[in-house]
Amino acid sequence: FKLAAVSAVALGVATGAQAACDDGEVVIKFSHVTNTDKHPKGIAASLLQERVNEEMNGKACMEVYGNSSLYNDDQVLEAMLNGDVQLAAPSLSKFETFTKKYRIFDLPFMFKNIDAVDEFQTSEVGQAMKESMTRRGLLGLEFWHNGMKQISASKPLLEPSDAAGLKFRVQTSEVLKAQFAALDANPQAMAFSEVYGALQTGVVDGQENTWSNIYGQKFFEVQDGTTETNHGIIDYMVVTSVDWWDGLDADVRDQLSTILREVTETRNSESFKVNEEAKQAIIDAGGEVRQLTAEQRQAWVDVMKPVWGQFEGDVGAENIAAAQEINA
Ligand code: LMR
Repeated sequence: FKLAAVSAVALGVATGAQAACDDGEVVIKFSHVTNTDKHPKGIAASLLQERVNEEMNGKACMEVYGNSSLYNDDQVLEAMLNGDVQLAAPSLSKFETFTKKYRIFDLPFMFKNIDAVDEFQTSEVGQAMKESMTRRGLLGLEFWHNGMKQISASKPLLEPSDAAGLKFRVQTSEVLKAQFAALDANPQAMAFSEVYGALQTGVVDGQENTWSNIYGQKFFEVQDGTTETNHGIIDYMVVTSVDWWDGLDADVRDQLSTILREVTETRNSESFKVNEEAKQAIIDAGGEVRQLTAEQRQAWVDVMKPVWGQFEGDVGAENIAAAQEINA
């Protein structure tokens, strides 16, 4: 038994394939939607899998399912509450039905860069957000970084008026819908795995995302170009079910949290670099990347920032003030 367990885990690590779980091990399925090796979330999940399977062998085993191969983000939280998956890391925009507190992360031009996001999340207010969904059965464990969002479309976008009348894919977030409505554009919520096809066939004209997602999903191949707006962020909550988490033996829970914490620190500090590499890879592949002048960028700020007013009640004026202080 022991020998079989060791070789199965060794094989899993060596090939990057699913580690075979052995009798008596706690099975931890982690479902996500990005690629597993060129993306801040994908790399972090793969590292977590590797470490859990090495260090917790005999106690627990992790199977990571990337690329929406198990669930998309519209399905995964329900599956988690049903006990079919134990970990996921949907973007903060996708918890709309569980909490309105995360709306602050979707507000345009709220954070000037990913370091500011990190500082906000590690503050007392940010850490408390991990527990904002426990009544609904979900527990946030760690924030994972992706990066700043850019906007792509089927035509060049330099002035905000260039986006008017276009259809943009958005994540399932009321803030993001309001943001595109402010541009006189038409937001359409859609799962991540559907976006490439929708851009290719013209079901939507454009989308907003980080460099790693625009590269990883090849959106740039079916768009006129991408404008470097840095107007918002995509970040994640590594989330689990309260029932499952509370049911773990204390030593398993402690070791898993420690490994997760270490992976979070290691990979969050690399997320900016992963996105810069993806941006360069887009340029190298012939993708068009457009820069805004200071005046042009200010025009986007002027049109989009008033959206804050619509959501101040959900996110708290004091939290907006705290975020702005960090930017200063
Ligand atoms: C999206 O749906 O665009 C993103 O949330 C995907 C992801 O997980 O980065």
